[in-house]
Amino acid sequence: MPHAPEVRRRRTFAIISHPDAGKTTLTEKLLLFSGAIHIAGSVKARKASRHATSDWMEIEKQRGISVASSVMQMLYRDCVINLLDTPGHKDFSEDTYRVLTAVDAALMVIDAANGVEPQTRRLIEVCRQRDTPILTFVNKMDREGRDPLELLDEIEQELGMPCVPMTWPVGQGKAFGGIVDLRKQQMRLFKAGADKRSDQDGADADEIVPLAQADTLRARFGQDFETAEGSIELLAGAAPAYAQDAFEAAKQTPVFFGSGVNNFGVQEVLDALVDLAPPPAARHVTQADGRDVEVPPAAEGFSGVVFKVQANMDPSHRDRIAFVRVNSGRYASGMKLRVQRSGKELRPTSVVTFLSQRREAVEEAYAGDIIGFTTHGGVQLGDTITHGEAPASFGTYTGLPFFAPELFQTVELANPMKSKQLMQGLLQLGEEGAIQVFRPTVGGAMLLGAIGQLQFEVVQHRLKAEYGVEARLGACRFHGARWVTCDDAAAMRKFTDEAASKLALDAADTLAYLMTSPYDLRLTQERHPKVVFHPLREHA
Ligand code: G4P
Repeated sequence: MPHAPEVRRRRTFAIISHPDAGKTTLTEKLLLFSGAIHIAGSVKARKASRHATSDWMEIEKQRGISVASSVMQMLYRDCVINLLDTPGHKDFSEDTYRVLTAVDAALMVIDAANGVEPQTRRLIEVCRQRDTPILTFVNKMDREGRDPLELLDEIEQELGMPCVPMTWPVGQGKAFGGIVDLRKQQMRLFKAGADKRSDQDGADADEIVPLAQADTLRARFGQDFETAEGSIELLAGAAPAYAQDAFEAAKQTPVFFGSGVNNFGVQEVLDALVDLAPPPAARHVTQADGRDVEVPPAAEGFSGVVFKVQANMDPSHRDRIAFVRVNSGRYASGMKLRVQRSGKELRPTSVVTFLSQRREAVEEAYAGDIIGFTTHGGVQLGDTITHGEAPASFGTYTGLPFFAPELFQTVELANPMKSKQLMQGLLQLGEEGAIQVFRPTVGGAMLLGAIGQLQFEVVQHRLKAEYGVEARLGACRFHGARWVTCDDAAAMRKFTDEAASKLALDAADTLAYLMTSPYDLRLTQERHPKVVFHPLREHA
């Protein structure tokens, strides 16, 4: 395989966490280690400006910010590490979920005082569905938090897999003494301070004491060290040993403790990403005749999949950036690209990569890397992109999920003359995945479906700003959707006749059942046992 060495040194991951657990801080420290940014506080500053934009409708500004920060590439040791941002306001959108389809591992950040919080839980579900390996970082050990053993218990329950501690804390809060590296059998002593220099070229800024000198450590940290020793002994008996294949199969999670803001325990995580997290794996394509074929990441031909489409800075141009996760081969600058779905050749005006937080013209990219190109249409979420000369028989990647919306609103025009613009706007915003659009089969107002409330506001704003359409959104009786299939034509007919007033077609003309409550769904399911209700639709 020609590109095997490049593939082997790639790591692509995302951080999953609840707001305020410390994702931004940790991201910044990871970038600092890699030398990708030199000024501490720059990621933070950007987040602050995002918050300062309390008027969420200043979408143009935000878009610029989020495009730039959505992919970060860094070099650490001999690895190329791609960190994908999971947009994580209080509000959720499907984008967040789909980003997770483009990574090979996830780093879960947990606030030591709060444990596993709701938003993390939802992201965990998505990782679990795909068996994405998860590394866990328990943050804010410099603050009074929960007992570490109790936290491990909770993480195990929530993740449904055993925890394997790789580091272990000595004390906590004001008495936080540091972490014991269980593999290296040494303790890293805690020193507060965000700007400690300990990058890969520089000397380690923290004091390290081998466990062989346990007496010294006992003398320095007293009861806290002894408690840690006790816990470590307990865990040695109770927790499974770390097993690489179990981690890669998402059957156990290695756990690290530290304090992001103090740049403490972060290097252990970064080293684990290099040493433990898997390089890009083979992905599957479905060929035209329905055959499922595995594409090795180091294969010759370039291919990738569009996992995110985002409107560009200038709304009047309506150009968008398609984010492609490279799945195989090598992309080289100037290469012609083709959309497998339509067979059309793309002539992107620019193809960019995301080194540190600048967008730069891409020279080359390999499996695991993300490239972005501007498009004026013709590219959809889930599209397979290949080298222009690749045969159409290459097939298409499967598996980009569309999640059943949980919130619905009706959309109507203030000015009926603009219905063409409304349709065009909804179609394009739907293609971007900004919202899901449903047409009730019995007619009536179109419905918008979303995962997070903010999506509605963004769409309403963008319809006005970009398409000149004043849309009125209204309350709607639906609270969920399920895509429906049925092998038995008669049973399906009975169902569609009975449920007609609750059926709608989505943008891909797939039939969905709109439900008014979970109870409604249960009842309908009982009445129509042969109909299958899917909470997820995979892009085909
Ligand atoms: P997020 O991206 O997950 O939302 O979290 P972010 O990094 O912004 O961190 C949320 C808050 O937690 C910040 O405080 C940050 O400084 C703090 N924090 C992050 N890591 C640690 C840690 O290891 N220990 C402690 N004690 N705090 C930590 P803030 O008050 O919102 O911002 P700031 O004014 O302190 O910067």
